[in-house]
Amino acid sequence: MSGMRVGVVGVGYVGLTTAVCLAERGAHVVAVEVDAAKVDSLNEGRPTVDEPGLRDILVDGLARRAVSFTTNDRFMADREVVFVCVSTPEAPDGSADLTAVEHVVDRLANVLPPGAVVVIKSTVPVGTTRWLAELLQPNGIHVACAPEFLREGYAVHDFRHPDRIVLGVDEDVAAEIVGRCYGPLSSPLLRTNLESAELAKYASNAFLAVKSSYANSLAALCDRTGADVLDVVRCMGADGRIGTDFLEPGPGWGGSCLPKDSAALLHTARRHGVVLAEVEACRRTNEAQGARIADTLRRSVGRPLRDMRVTALGLTFKAHTSDTRDSPALTVCSQLVSGGAHVQGYDPRLAAVDPGVLAAAGVSAVDDPYRATKAADAIVVLVEWPEFAEFDWYAIGEQSPGAVVVDTRNVLDGELVERAGLRYVGNGRRAFGTGGTG
Ligand code: UGA
Repeated sequence: MSGMRVGVVGVGYVGLTTAVCLAERGAHVVAVEVDAAKVDSLNEGRPTVDEPGLRDILVDGLARRAVSFTTNDRFMADREVVFVCVSTPEAPDGSADLTAVEHVVDRLANVLPPGAVVVIKSTVPVGTTRWLAELLQPNGIHVACAPEFLREGYAVHDFRHPDRIVLGVDEDVAAEIVGRCYGPLSSPLLRTNLESAELAKYASNAFLAVKSSYANSLAALCDRTGADVLDVVRCMGADGRIGTDFLEPGPGWGGSCLPKDSAALLHTARRHGVVLAEVEACRRTNEAQGARIADTLRRSVGRPLRDMRVTALGLTFKAHTSDTRDSPALTVCSQLVSGGAHVQGYDPRLAAVDPGVLAAAGVSAVDDPYRATKAADAIVVLVEWPEFAEFDWYAIGEQSPGAVVVDTRNVLDGELVERAGLRYVGNGRRAFGTGGTG
């Protein structure tokens, strides 16, 4: 695909990764973004999202003049393919808010040459791409849908090594142009119609949510029966039909995608008179996780939350990111604070977390884990950061003797924590503690 003229609109996780990784593969990429400050930062080689490996590829692409960033749509005028990567946030009724996508397509209609292909990477409800294709058809512009499956924190890795590339496209000519853009692939390219590609994205994220909620419900059952959830999911995951991924219990699933995409899928299903009971149930399970953890703290410490000093280890929505959007960790913190607890939070990426978000959750942030855990009645592990297991738990035990450690992610060595003079409570792991999180 050497030398192909590619455009990208929107430089969030998906857009920026797409722009720099396609430039790495030999395309000439121009990315348009409305936020001038982001454009300046990127043109100076400073990434606007926190992703391992991204900076080096960005700097290399800029040095080779293979990628550039602008606020000006007119640089799209000679593009062969343009990837639309703007966000589709959750509207108040649970549907996907398509304002940004519609706006971008309007602008592209005025500037793109006939024969160009607009590829929708934004997550859009089934039916959207065909509607956009009809809008752009009079201008001779083709439209395809290529949903993105990369994970935050692994964006570059997932772009380079996807499990699959899904391409929804009706016209062979557009399929050929987009295929050229990706170049030789080591992953399967699954061609579908527009509707199937759109739905495959929602169906995948909702399935991950269902699987994860199932693991959380099983953990609650393990707490009451003496089974160890880690053994249960190990046995389940060994079955190739089930697989081990997304079976790790935790405080619930969150982030910028699973919550909004499961809501939007339900909205679409309702509009078509279809009941997706599994997806509805997994959202209910997820909403109950905060109360379940608060209840565990009450029972393990042996008194109400009022004036309990709690340390929250981990504030982001998962490890290896500084993103706190829809963070289950912060949901748990808010719940504890509303019950009267005083919550101090520590996170390895605290420096990159917006203090306003923590203040809204009622959490006071401390940038040192040992200061954060000092004189705590309870310590609750909310994110699976590997460094938490490496802490000096004996030092923590000395400064907070007898404190309860509720490990919602099961990342600590429970026996070591108990030897350090603390009381360990795993999630679905009754054998290690004085009672589980159920
Ligand atoms: C998710 C999907 O995994 C990506 O494939 C998709 O491209 C992306 O959404 C998107 O639509 O843009 P991401 O939001 O980065 O990616 O987060 P995940 O890694 O999927 O984690 C989601 C949540 O599930 C996190 O809160 C995580 O802690 C939780 N989780 C995950 C568990 O609680 N247990 C698990 O076993 C796995």
